[in-house]
Amino acid sequence: MRQKFNKHATDAFFVNHDTYMKPTPLSLSGDVILEIGSGKGDFICQYAKDHPDKTFVAVEFNRHVCYYIVLKKEAYKLDNLHIILDDAMNIDQYLTPHSVHTLYLQFSDPWPKAKHHKRRLTYPTKLDIYGKLLKKEGQLIFKTDHQKLYIESSFYIQTKFKDIHFEDDAQPLTYMTEYERKKRPHGSIYQITAGDYYETL
Ligand SMILES: C[S@@+](CC[C@H](N)C(=O)[O-])C[C@H]1O[C@@H](n2cnc3c(N)ncnc32)[C@H](O)[C@@H]1O
Repeated sequence: MRQKFNKHATDAFFVNHDTYMKPTPLSLSGDVILEIGSGKGDFICQYAKDHPDKTFVAVEFNRHVCYYIVLKKEAYKLDNLHIILDDAMNIDQYLTPHSVHTLYLQFSDPWPKAKHHKRRLTYPTKLDIYGKLLKKEGQLIFKTDHQKLYIESSFYIQTKFKDIHFEDDAQPLTYMTEYERKKRPHGSIYQITAGDYYETL
């Protein structure tokens, strides 16, 4: 996602708005819903607003985008949303193993060149981090409009999860990300739902 430089997205802004920027073990209870690569937070903020009984965590490493998640958290008074401004690779330094009920990866950057595949949020090394965070009954939900990323992610996911469901034309649900809203009118949305990470067996 190309995002304009935002002069307000300073360290001081994030510190003053309780955003986690350095590894901090969070003690979270109940059903934890985690979204990685939240963009401007349309999906997670609306979801959190309607479900004050659940705990939400948004992870976004671009501060110029993350800024808008913070604004929405403040506008909607979301005490049940925690925001992490950090790389997906570090999330196991914030969240405890087997604490996450649902993990969303939505419209992640496709990184089409082979030399950049490691940067994909569905890359196997990242799936290992996610898998360890998921509860035994937890699920990873991956959505994209990018067919090649969908197919290649399906191969990655099949090496790490046992219970996998594919949808080539996923129907819209109550909450949508900014990208889903933009991409839906132009074609199919692909979804992979995965549970039963191998190491939790
Ligand atoms: C294409 S955008 C999609 C944003 C949002 N999920 C949506 O559907 O509107 C991908 C987002 O993932 C974030 N991202 C990519 N790699 C990341 C990483 N390793 N850790 C945290 N965020 C990441 C990017 O900064 C960007 O905001």
